[in-house]
Amino acid sequence: MKARVIPLVDERMRRMAAHALLHDEPAGSVPVHDTLGRPLHDLRISVTDRCNFRCGYCMPRELFAGQGLFMPRSELLDFDEITRLASVFVSQGVRKIRLTGGEPLLRRDVERLVGMLAMLRTPAGEPVELTLTTNGSLLARKAAALKAAGLHRVTVSLDALDDAVFRRMNDADFPVAEVLRGIDAALAAGLSPLKVNTVVQRGVNDHEVEAIVRHFRHTPVVPRFIEYMDVGGSHGWRMDQVVPSAELLQRLARRHALLPMEPARKGETASRWRHADGAGEIGFISSVTQAFCGDCNRARLSADGRLVTCLFGRHGLDLRALLREAGAGDAQLGAAIRGTWRARSDRYSEQRGSQPPGDAGDGRVAMHYIGG
Ligand code: GTP
Ligand code: 5AD
Ligand code: SF4
Ligand code: SF4
Repeated sequence: MKARVIPLVDERMRRMAAHALLHDEPAGSVPVHDTLGRPLHDLRISVTDRCNFRCGYCMPRELFAGQGLFMPRSELLDFDEITRLASVFVSQGVRKIRLTGGEPLLRRDVERLVGMLAMLRTPAGEPVELTLTTNGSLLARKAAALKAAGLHRVTVSLDALDDAVFRRMNDADFPVAEVLRGIDAALAAGLSPLKVNTVVQRGVNDHEVEAIVRHFRHTPVVPRFIEYMDVGGSHGWRMDQVVPSAELLQRLARRHALLPMEPARKGETASRWRHADGAGEIGFISSVTQAFCGDCNRARLSADGRLVTCLFGRHGLDLRALLREAGAGDAQLGAAIRGTWRARSDRYSEQRGSQPPGDAGDGRVAMHYIGG
């Protein structure tokens, strides 16, 4: 089967935006809230749909090989367009921006975009929290420049410490030592606190979890273990490959004394635990067994400028068309974003149990398209 980039043009979303433009309420209600009372707070911007890894749970090589699978350059928002849209999102309540991909460090001159986004200010004159999720392969080279450009912190995906397991999982024969060098470079550059994200798959890398916890004890790095999700629907997801966080915690508790921590803020993805002996923190992202849609405050902007309101979304509002073709001003863009967010009722992870798992053709947005 040949994978493809899923088009997100949707008549319903276009009508909704048009409705918002006509019937926009007066400003003043910032942040804007959705139908379930959730505020718009985080914006995750995908800057490319390309990646140099082929993780089986995201871009399996049998589907993502060959030419013509990815967006042509002209489809991508340019840096001025991204910055303009980001500033409109900030005017609607966004206070945290995360750059993602695909692999965001593959986007040429991404540090220049970081510099542009670092200049954004909230209406109260505060900078916006600016962070980036990366597979770490180019981080050793780029960490210092990213920090100098104004990036605050970085999250690195790392599925195993064992080199053979790591190479197998990224399916690009990429060595783990280079990612560890990237993490060191990020810490040396002052990109901290640094989080490491591990997607755990039963029988693939669940035996690596203990080593990861041990490796990062007594460091400023926070390892977080993510339940393998059915996102994108293109990788034959099976529930029996999900390791529930409760099971992992039980396993880890045999060797480590762990104490629960309060959430740092509402809407967080991870539940946090700390080593009782002061050796640091770990986290669990339990989107399958303990969905966190109730406080989900994350909007997503795809590399080609579509606003998607859920990681499992099927539709996206075409903000690029509003920008490029309709020549919309900031007020119109703000009204379109507000209208879309106000109409939002997504809570896929909470409803997952009542739906059949998807397949490659079910129209769900792919993870590499919308960012993790
Ligand atoms: P921090 O502010 O650093 O805690 O970031 P974050 O946890 O909001 O973002 P990060 O990119 O580190 O997210 C970690 C992982 O959690 C992602 O790779 C996804 O697997 C999962 N995740 C993030 N956001 C969502 C979401 O909105 N829904 C679901 N179901 N999973 C999510
Ligand atoms: N399940 C859970 N997390 C995923 N990611 C990608 N695909 C999945 C999946 N199927 C997340 C991981 C990875 C980031 C880039 O996206 O956190 O580190
Ligand atoms: Fe690339 Fe991240 Fe997807 Fe792996 S999970 S293929 S590193 S985008
Ligand atoms: Fe948010 Fe959708 Fe994830 Fe639920 S499934 S937490 S609504 S992105």
